[in-house]
Amino acid sequence: MHRFVFFSIFFGLIFLNCEKGHLLTIAVGGAPNELDYWEKLIREFEERTGIKVKLIRQPTDTDQRRQSLIIPLKAKKPDPDVFLMDIAWLGGFAASGWLQALDDYVKRDTFDLTKFFKPVVTSVDIYEGALVALPVYIDCGLLYYRKDLLEKYGCPVPRTWEELLQVATLIQKKERTRNPRFYGFVWQGAQYEGLVCNFLEFITSAGGGLFDSLGNINLCSKTNIHALTFMKDLIHKYKISPPNTYTEMKEEEVRISFQNGDALFERNWPYAWKLHESNDSPVKGKIGVTLLPAFKTGKTASALGGWHIGISAYSDNKEQAWQLVKFILSYESQKRLAIDLGWNPGREDVYEDPELKHNLPHINVLKESFNHAVARPNVPYYTRLSQILQIYVNAAISGRMGPEEALKKAEEKMREIIHTYE
Ligand code: GLC
Repeated sequence: MHRFVFFSIFFGLIFLNCEKGHLLTIAVGGAPNELDYWEKLIREFEERTGIKVKLIRQPTDTDQRRQSLIIPLKAKKPDPDVFLMDIAWLGGFAASGWLQALDDYVKRDTFDLTKFFKPVVTSVDIYEGALVALPVYIDCGLLYYRKDLLEKYGCPVPRTWEELLQVATLIQKKERTRNPRFYGFVWQGAQYEGLVCNFLEFITSAGGGLFDSLGNINLCSKTNIHALTFMKDLIHKYKISPPNTYTEMKEEEVRISFQNGDALFERNWPYAWKLHESNDSPVKGKIGVTLLPAFKTGKTASALGGWHIGISAYSDNKEQAWQLVKFILSYESQKRLAIDLGWNPGREDVYEDPELKHNLPHINVLKESFNHAVARPNVPYYTRLSQILQIYVNAAISGRMGPEEALKKAEEKMREIIHTYE
């Protein structure tokens, strides 16, 4: 009998350990092809290391991804062990104490941090002196255009928003006779984080911004009102952007519309390129990528986005989690993510790879966009500020509220939040 109890406990423990072995979990979201790719990458990691990993598939929308991580983290649950975080909410996660410091692992394994973009690591991944995450890929807003249509109508690639408007109006009119669904310009205007990125690009490229030179909030400036009015007019006055811009348009909706051949210009992140160029894409071979236009009076600006990897402070599998993090950040994986998915790698050394240069002909545009990157405020309460912006900018572009009134109200609310925290 004793023997039986002993063996039951012994085999029970072995079983539990095996089960635990299955429990290394990683949460990532994205477009369907990206998730399939993650699945492939993870299987390779399993083969190499024998460590079993479960992929937790998350939505594409960053706000939803954040929500689905907050639930287990608030409850101090060990799963997921590893996850990707948007640069926009990483600060909040670090301030909540949800991220495992990586310094000891880095030191022990002489993991070379200098290979990663230093300004990004220093300003985003280090929190109160501790390294809490590392960049998997860096996003910058880009302008995609239909090369074939610009050529057909003898139009230039626009450098200014005014030019874009002119070209889009002309070509939309002509193309509508063939395709009634055709629009000049598609971009992200739904009420969510992506809208804040688009807004930031428009206002910065007009010479405005969220703050003045002293760092005080200055949302309701003349320049910002002008830029927001332009955003609204694209939909309601010039009608070169569809009415569902402010109800539905997120990354994937925008990407699909352009990819179906229903738009001339598209604002999107680097990931869209690979999909537009895929074999089943109706626009394959017909597109170009360039920097976003600026207003006549301003300079091009690309919202700085991107996803960083971290280990949960509550993971009970941290050593194996670190192995997975290292694998994802290795030169080889980073190169493949760039070539196969079109991402901007978080590692700087990969950009010099000849194979990468060959496979991503627009690599210089990607790199150049970094020089015009505009970051969202890197404060732990950023998501609260963003929620206000999402509401009021969306109200303005939908026509429910005048741009000036919307910015005034948003500024008041944001000021209140800033006062609460500072
Ligand atoms: C992309 C960016 C991210 C941004 C999001 C907005 O995923 O990488 O930083 O917050 O788009 O939709």
